Amino acid sequence: MSTGVSRGTSRTVHVPLPGREYDVVIGAGVLEQAGALMVPLLRRKRVAIVTDTHVAERHLARVVEILAASGIAAESLVLPAGEATKAWGPLGTTVDWLLAQRIERSDLVVALGGGVIGDLVGFAAAILRRGVRFVQVPTTLLAQVDSSVGGKTGINSVHGKNLIGAFHQPVLVLADTDVLTTLPRREFLAGYGEVVKYGLLGDAGFFDWLEVNGPAMAAGDVVARIHAVTRSVRMKAEIVIRDETEQGDRALLNLGHTFCHALEAATGYSDRLLHGEGVAIGCGLAFELSARLGLCSQEEPGRVRAHLQAMGMRVGLADIPGDLPGAEELLALMGQDKKVVDGTLRFILARGIGEAFVTADVPKEAVLGLLRDGLAGR
Ligand code: NAD
Ligand code: GLY
Repeated sequence: MSTGVSRGTSRTVHVPLPGREYDVVIGAGVLEQAGALMVPLLRRKRVAIVTDTHVAERHLARVVEILAASGIAAESLVLPAGEATKAWGPLGTTVDWLLAQRIERSDLVVALGGGVIGDLVGFAAAILRRGVRFVQVPTTLLAQVDSSVGGKTGINSVHGKNLIGAFHQPVLVLADTDVLTTLPRREFLAGYGEVVKYGLLGDAGFFDWLEVNGPAMAAGDVVARIHAVTRSVRMKAEIVIRDETEQGDRALLNLGHTFCHALEAATGYSDRLLHGEGVAIGCGLAFELSARLGLCSQEEPGRVRAHLQAMGMRVGLADIPGDLPGAEELLALMGQDKKVVDGTLRFILARGIGEAFVTADVPKEAVLGLLRDGLAGR
């Protein structure tokens, strides 16, 4: 695939939710259009940007400059980087800061960062003055392909991940693939876990494409990156349009997440396991479980693992450093999953690559056996 792409090359995915529709603008250099795209959304030319320390160091000054070129004044709040920021303390800091900035309903809040900033700032915007509009400027691959689109916002609780939150759609998403050049490789590959998820859950052709083009994409191929982000966002948008508040189909987007959330809790939401790494490992486990239950062929989990391995990613429980609790405790941690209904766990399983479905019909012993075998391989 060619690496040459003219600056400004962009794709737009429209998310036509009635009364809350918005565009996701994707491409190399689209950040340059931030001012022009925001001016029509503003009554007064003023925005509040919330970001984290890592992103501020690399991208904040440029964003402020781009907005200033369109006459938009920007104040900014810089929060500590990391998952621990998705908590009550930083949420309170953010809301109080936005109030101190006298941000009104007709103003815009800008979430400049990865999924942590997007989730936290989106939630702050949802509860500020009972709802202020916000723009997502996702700066990680994970945020560009997943968390910035669809309106799930929130923070973590001591009881589990993402348990406090609201649905609040952004009014614009600006996904500039150029900002991914400053992203550490480990973070890029973690985001790639969510990209693979889209192929696995609903598009076998996209998974075939990733098997061929994934390595070039990770190496920096801009055209491949734009294609992968656009395909992922289209799939997410199609599902969100059908089921915004996760009454049905949207749960498919959680392929791998039941395992992932338990593993993240077990590793203390720490650097030991990034969210996207947990998703990739969780997808592998979901396919292994599907094969064990006779839902898909024995070859499919092997193919999933082989692709993750070829990308240099973490593949199974054996790749998580440090101690892990036993299978029973991991299963108990899954009990806090938001897909639990009447105490029954629901899993996303697959009849093959690209053919995921939601089911509550999973014997506990099959899950325990899978976890025990994975833990024994450590
Ligand atoms: P993150 O926001 O913590 O970003 C990862 C790291 O990369 C951080 O250290 C950050 O400071 C740094 N970073 C961000 N952009 C950078 C850049 N361009 N250059 C250099 N460093 C940069 O993590 P994430 O992986 O983006 O998001 C994970 C979070 O997203 C989790 O909390 C997860 O629950 C959430 N999530 C939400 C949804 C949703 O639908 N709302 C979907 C998936 C994941
Ligand atoms: N990332 C899962 C969802 O947005 O529903």
